[in-house]
Amino acid sequence: MKPKQTSSAHVFIFSCPAQGHVNSMLNLAQLLALHNLHITLLNTEHIHNRLTRFSNIESLLARYPTLRFKTIPDGLPEEHPRSGKRAGEPLLSVMAHGKPFLRDILVKDRVTCLVADGFFGKLANETAEEVGVPVIHFRTIGASCFWTYFSVPNLFESGELPITGEEDMERIITTIPGMENLLRCRDLPSFCRPTREGEPVSPLLKTVVSETRQVLRTRAAILNTFDDLEDPALSQIRGRFPTVFTIGPLHQHRELRAPTATNTMKSSNNSIWEEDTSCMAWLDSQPLRSVIYVSFGSFTTMSRESLMEFWYGLVNSNRRFLWVVREDMIAAGEGKDESVPAELVEGTKERGLMVGWVPQVDVLAHKSVAAFMTHCGWNSTIESVVAGVPMICWPYFADQQVNSRLVSEYWKVGLDMKDVCDRKVVENMVNDVMVNRKEEFLQSAEKLAVLARKSVTEGGSSYINLNRLIDFIELISQ
Ligand code: UDX
Repeated sequence: MKPKQTSSAHVFIFSCPAQGHVNSMLNLAQLLALHNLHITLLNTEHIHNRLTRFSNIESLLARYPTLRFKTIPDGLPEEHPRSGKRAGEPLLSVMAHGKPFLRDILVKDRVTCLVADGFFGKLANETAEEVGVPVIHFRTIGASCFWTYFSVPNLFESGELPITGEEDMERIITTIPGMENLLRCRDLPSFCRPTREGEPVSPLLKTVVSETRQVLRTRAAILNTFDDLEDPALSQIRGRFPTVFTIGPLHQHRELRAPTATNTMKSSNNSIWEEDTSCMAWLDSQPLRSVIYVSFGSFTTMSRESLMEFWYGLVNSNRRFLWVVREDMIAAGEGKDESVPAELVEGTKERGLMVGWVPQVDVLAHKSVAAFMTHCGWNSTIESVVAGVPMICWPYFADQQVNSRLVSEYWKVGLDMKDVCDRKVVENMVNDVMVNRKEEFLQSAEKLAVLARKSVTEGGSSYINLNRLIDFIELISQ
């Protein structure tokens, strides 16, 4: 599709203040700007400042004359950490306080279409309805989890929710249309679990489900997935809500239409963390397909005890490992400053590298990487799918429980160690994925990677859908 010369559409893209969401939104912004739509990406001030520090925003602005950035406050005090265990608070704060800012900007900037993160569904719908701007929701999670959230009310009706306790966790869920018998209670989104305080489900479940159902009030939905990856859930979603644009894997789509390759980096980073690129030289010096890459994304926190189980498991596996340990991954007071046993220091020196944040897409594409131990955030999952890298899943929260089930049982591209954190299990799974069952997982992962790449090349489903989306935006902007 040739970029149009000019467009009267002015699209506002409203992102949730979290790494995984910002990533997807920035990729979408670039794809739309490439087609000469006027795009404003709206972030919180805090996220924008971090993007300015750690990503190359200047070069994006130079590259896309129709792209610009705007900010709103997140309503939290300057000194709020906005990380670790409190990383989710900015999202809830914007939901509560963002409306007057959003309304003001929509009116003053003569916005013709609002593409809002579906997590901000109610806020976006109410504000846009007040000022007469059409809304599209962009859900940055996978279609299967989106559909699971959508189906939660049916699960209560059929008696499959609530979960009664640990002894109930293996029970198979049968009443999610299109996904019958795939998920166990254990694989439902984490918010469906009973809480430590004795509530039948997390208080957040109600919010997440009602935000999900807000999609019914919009003109269309965008999903960062592709048709061959999640066909059963997508068929159901399209039955309920016909105007769905599946345009993923977005990072690959963006890279194909607007390559950012430089001599040193293959992809642009979209990062709100400082990348330690020294890991690329380290990977260059490792044998072909010999390294397990370990990262639990931008939200996961863990106790020192869990960290030690992973560390022993990795060292005892005798495989090489590259491990992202964010500075806020272990909270202060949870043993962060205790000394490390000598055998771990030795084992890491011999075969490992631990860093604070890496250029993940480039790491996954590196020829030395054989497997990915991941929390199964949707971006990490789909990035691994594109790279054809088998996974070991340790989901932390939200959609990740569903995604890890897809990895192990539906796509069969890895193993799921959900709810277990034990050094022997880590050691065994690393060796299963990298040695004992290597060929089996590699073959399935490579098949999926071919489909992923096909979807975003000319004639592929996501390629066609992006062109349709651009036409749709032009239409509703008139
Ligand atoms: C959050 C939720 O945790 C996740 O479940 C949901 O699907 C999206 O929002 P997050 O924890 O940030 O996501 O995980 P993920 O979706 O995987 O996104 C992390 C992003 O950070 C990925 O795009 C990954 O490439 C990037 N990353 C991660 C890096 O660039 N470097 C790193 O060292 C680690």
